[in-house]
Amino acid sequence: METKRSNFSGKVGFILAAAGSAIGLGNIWRFPYLAAKYGGGTFLVCYIVLAVTFGFTLMIAEIAIGRKTGLSAIEAFKKLDQRFGFLGILAALVPIIILPYYSVIGGWVLKYFSAFLTVGANVTAQDTYFNDFITNAQQPILWFTCFIALTTLVVLFGVEKGIEKVSKIMMPILAVLTVGIALYVLTMDGAIEGVKYYILPNMSNFSIMTVLSAMGQLFYSMSLAMGIMITYGSYMPKNTNLESAVHNIELFDTGFAFFAGLMIVPSVFIFSGGDESALNAGAGLMFITLPKVFASIPFGSVLGTVFFILVFFAAVTSSISLMETIVSILMDKFKWSRTFTCILVLIYSLLIGIPTSLGFGVLDFIQPLGMSILDAMDFISNSVLMPIVALLTCIFVGFVIKPKAIIDEVEISGTETFKNKAMFSFMIKWIAPIFLLAILISSILNALGIITM
Ligand code: TRP
Repeated sequence: METKRSNFSGKVGFILAAAGSAIGLGNIWRFPYLAAKYGGGTFLVCYIVLAVTFGFTLMIAEIAIGRKTGLSAIEAFKKLDQRFGFLGILAALVPIIILPYYSVIGGWVLKYFSAFLTVGANVTAQDTYFNDFITNAQQPILWFTCFIALTTLVVLFGVEKGIEKVSKIMMPILAVLTVGIALYVLTMDGAIEGVKYYILPNMSNFSIMTVLSAMGQLFYSMSLAMGIMITYGSYMPKNTNLESAVHNIELFDTGFAFFAGLMIVPSVFIFSGGDESALNAGAGLMFITLPKVFASIPFGSVLGTVFFILVFFAAVTSSISLMETIVSILMDKFKWSRTFTCILVLIYSLLIGIPTSLGFGVLDFIQPLGMSILDAMDFISNSVLMPIVALLTCIFVGFVIKPKAIIDEVEISGTETFKNKAMFSFMIKWIAPIFLLAILISSILNALGIITM
């Protein structure tokens, strides 16, 4: 009885910790704007299909590698095969690229929290409010700096545990609020058009960009292809059923994203007066659309304030985990002190984050790969680096350590059988690498302007 209970709490603890890392701005900010932009229902279906095949395969492989070796990414690959040590380093580059621009968006969230608190929903809902904010020369830098400074303080003083406790209460509230707002939006006039767009696939909206962006989003949202799940796996008890844990994490993560989309995408239809170009708002979509929803609800300013503080918590737990990953890698590698490493990562983040913050205003003439600085960073991590890491991970598992090594790890307790092992082996050896290679090549050709998708 006693051991049974601790198994159970071990499993739930693991799922909550991994889901906590997975759920963040990726679900609430990034998923809805991509779904709006890349075909609504077509994107949604594409995402779900990729999640249950591809995401499942990669997440099982990463968590199993972590649990098998008991090490974080850099050491884990090296231990399994000396030649693949570089893969851990490549994976570690991803959080390094993500942290600064993640914190820029985190800053936007803080700004909206403060704006709902002080000036309220009616002001933030004005058409020019968001644009005035991101084109301003000081404001985005100020809020970004607050966000990254807070993150650094938590990592520096090692108080993550306290934050995690708070966020264990905040996240369920955020989930309930998100579902509630989504249901409210469904009752509004004109919602049905938007719901149809969001849920029903329409082949005329399909393009390679749909697949590419769904794939990048999958990596991003589930924290795959960056070594994170390897680290989480290294803490996972051997008697926890790995396969069902992965199903649960995927379900939480995708469910959250789905409702965030349901809250935001139909609202675009409701408030844009039939102007479909509003769907292409990109990174600003949530900040443009949600205030209009709140402005239409009684006590919308209060609700908006609560909503943005909760989103802030979801964001800051992710940024803490991103920064902690970077800091611990550097500390292990160079034997620096925690304080020194934190200050170094802070300075680096400021150096990258400040121009990123200005990329929509003062620095909007800088257009790497024809995009804003923020979109370019996002593109390089999600559409280039992560597919490369994922591809190499598949080759590593499929042909170097062999799928059996992973299957044995999943079945290690002797009581679990890996139900989808046949699909797993075939996916990781053949389908995933071929698919990834195709995605990677087309994404690079597209960015270089050689083909248009
Ligand atoms: N998955 C997180 C989200 O959806 C973002 C993220 C990417 C992340 N990589 C991470 C979070 C590493 C923690 C650690 O927002």
